[in-house]
Amino acid sequence: MTAVEAQAQETRLFPPGFVWGVATSSYQIEGAADADGRGPSIWDAFSRVPGAVAAGETGDVACDHYHRWPQDVELMARLGVGAYRFSVAWPRIFPQGDGRVERRGLDFYRRLVDALNERGITPFVTLYHWDLPQALEERGGWRVRETAERFAEYAATVHEALDGVPYWITLNEPYCSSITGYAEGRHAPGAREGHGALAAAHHLLVGHGLAVARLRENARAGERVGVTLNMSPAVPASPSPEDAAAARRMDLMVNRQFTEPLLGAAYPGDMAEVYGGISDFSFRRDGDLALISAPLDFLGVNYYYPIHAAAAPYEQPDPALRSAFDIGVRTVAPDGPPVSGLGWRIEPRGLHDTLTGLAARYPDLPPVFITENGYGDDGALDDTGRVEYLRDHLAATAAAVDAGVDVRGYFCWSLLDNFEWARGYAARFGLVHVDYATQERTPKTSYHWYREVIAEGI
Ligand code: FCB
Repeated sequence: MTAVEAQAQETRLFPPGFVWGVATSSYQIEGAADADGRGPSIWDAFSRVPGAVAAGETGDVACDHYHRWPQDVELMARLGVGAYRFSVAWPRIFPQGDGRVERRGLDFYRRLVDALNERGITPFVTLYHWDLPQALEERGGWRVRETAERFAEYAATVHEALDGVPYWITLNEPYCSSITGYAEGRHAPGAREGHGALAAAHHLLVGHGLAVARLRENARAGERVGVTLNMSPAVPASPSPEDAAAARRMDLMVNRQFTEPLLGAAYPGDMAEVYGGISDFSFRRDGDLALISAPLDFLGVNYYYPIHAAAAPYEQPDPALRSAFDIGVRTVAPDGPPVSGLGWRIEPRGLHDTLTGLAARYPDLPPVFITENGYGDDGALDDTGRVEYLRDHLAATAAAVDAGVDVRGYFCWSLLDNFEWARGYAARFGLVHVDYATQERTPKTSYHWYREVIAEGI
């Protein structure tokens, strides 16, 4: 290293070799819902339920990435990212969830992986980013153990077919797949259950464990396996003991319910107390914890905001919206720090605290990748709010690295504006703007800024 390079290095916040990436997911960008034998997913079904998604939008077309992927790879190459995190659509591989393999689905991802590797962009593949085959939901979905077994078969099939993928992520955000989808009903499959939602959370973790075992059995040299959790510090809304206890329940539901079994090989001690009125945990089996807690090569952390939690009696006057899942806690919006264009709180400190908190709690914490972090707004091309958000969260990440947390990379959510689940297309997270009428892609200010960060350091 020359003196000038060494000096430049000293002013950088991140160690050499730090991975810069962008992230997307299949249902949010691919479109081509009926192409090449793809079967329906729970999001195809849910987005057709009146009122489920803003403006009645669906992922039928989305960014048409299924047909336009060479252009999107080109956008990434010009951005200079070293890695791309995307997900495989299970219903493209097993249109009915299991049974016959759809080779054309596998071929699509093979072409994508090859193109990325040719460009020097490392693929990080997520196996499940919420698009469960609808046929499996009709057989019980994540409420039943069979889905975990089908997931492991699907994972093994994709793993065998895709050579050239060094990083495998089993699940994206099992919290959202279980609680948002099966308890709150805000995401597919739109259920409002108690026991069923907790069973879903457990079976997602079992599916993760079974998939890890299958991927390990046939691992190619250098392959690494991990899982991605969304994490939000739960902050009491007031100094009252009631709100402190509520924040602890929120922390259980969002964070510890997943981190403890995965990283600590235990169910959280307060699980029986908090969920006692909801479930008898009869879905647990001997051996599950050992399976779930198999060592990981890395942990993916998605961070957007902290949650301010208050004790709350359950109030839902509309019987149609009532859920059997009630742990007496509600999210509040205190006065204070700014919010994003979507009203999400902006508190970069929460990312720092999440990372240092994980390292303090788990001495054997594997290396961490921030697999998602980003800012939603209504799509301005001169997106200075996004630039500030990303800059401040990178600084928070760097502070955690300084404090000794082994963070290996950062993936911005998202490369493109895309189908933002129940918010439809109105909420935009892209570094690249998408005009949905023409499918024209236009890099925003944040894209140019991120390119400089990657090239020059920050
Ligand atoms: C995360 C999801 C991702 C995206 C962002 C904004 O919870 O994993 O698909 O929608 O939120």
